[in-house]
Amino acid sequence: MSKPPKQVKIVEVSPRDGLQNEKQVVDLATKLELIERLGQSGVRNIEVTGFVSPKWVPQLADSSQLCQQLSQHKDIHYSALVPNLKGLELAIEGGMKEVAVFTAASELFTKKNINCTIEESLVRFKPVVSLAKQNNIKVRGYVSCVLGCPYEGEINPSKVAEITEKLFALGCYEVSLGDTIGTGTPLKAQKMLKACTEIADIDALALHFHNTYGQALANIYACLELGAHIIDASVAGLGGCPYAKGASGNVATEDVVYMLDGMGIKTGVDLKTLIQTGKWISQKINKSNNSQAGKAKA
Ligand code: HMG
Ligand code: MG
Repeated sequence: MSKPPKQVKIVEVSPRDGLQNEKQVVDLATKLELIERLGQSGVRNIEVTGFVSPKWVPQLADSSQLCQQLSQHKDIHYSALVPNLKGLELAIEGGMKEVAVFTAASELFTKKNINCTIEESLVRFKPVVSLAKQNNIKVRGYVSCVLGCPYEGEINPSKVAEITEKLFALGCYEVSLGDTIGTGTPLKAQKMLKACTEIADIDALALHFHNTYGQALANIYACLELGAHIIDASVAGLGGCPYAKGASGNVATEDVVYMLDGMGIKTGVDLKTLIQTGKWISQKINKSNNSQAGKAKA
């Protein structure tokens, strides 16, 4: 490994990405307990919800109540997904100190997911970032479909780098690269990340890999070799995107932490507590646990 990181920042996305795909509405108390348990396991960055249209994603319709009832711990960074100004205004009301805007490297996916073109999405984000900055709110950016699109197929790494650069130019402090449908493989992931490091510092690039074909850990390992050290993950491997047919869960946080522990790379996360959290939420929402580490320790 050329530049092994000593430490990895884990961004836990299960309360948002993990739950958004669940048909059965998960009650607010369970969502709040999930966030609390994740914090107890040592996770320090948690995407707690999304202020998106409740007509598009009914599961997250309780985002304002969730933020009102969330007890925010000082040492944990909480964030929420916002697609537009309305979402940001609600996030501000909810006391969020960080939000994430999201677009994609694929036109068709962007249309299906947020009902606009990539260019329109970037225009839409401009006032979002500006209002966020006025309120001392950090803005993260997501690029979806970085390793393939359910509607357009192959995606050119240069397109991913182009959109990533535009998000940084808007004022995002970090951009998360989403393999939304989990079709990526390690060498492709490296090629895509290398294209992005030509326009951005590796310290500001996150990996957000779904695990549809069981490739997410291999893809992460390949990107660690290039110095990547920010990883989005979801406990129990929950997740998926309602607008990306066939997309399964994110890489399970337990599996990422198990691998990094074994490599001597610090995450600050206690694997045992995290595994218990994964088992608890899987039982609570009646889902099979997709974490291999979680199953092995069951
Ligand atoms: P639209 O229908 O084009 O928007 O949706 P609109 O501006 O015409 O508004 C329509 C209605 O939505 C109006 O209400 C608005 O007030 C309301 P009505 O007058 O009909 O009663 N509305 C809102 N309500 C609450 N919060 C808001 C909001 N905005 C408008 N923020 C829109 C456009 C972007 C809103 C919609 O397409 C949307 O919410 N999309 C979100 C889809 C989504 O959440 N997808 C999953 C997350 S992305 C993902 O999973 C990928 C990621 O994980 C990375 C990866 O894996 O690649 C991030
Ligand atoms: Mg995702």
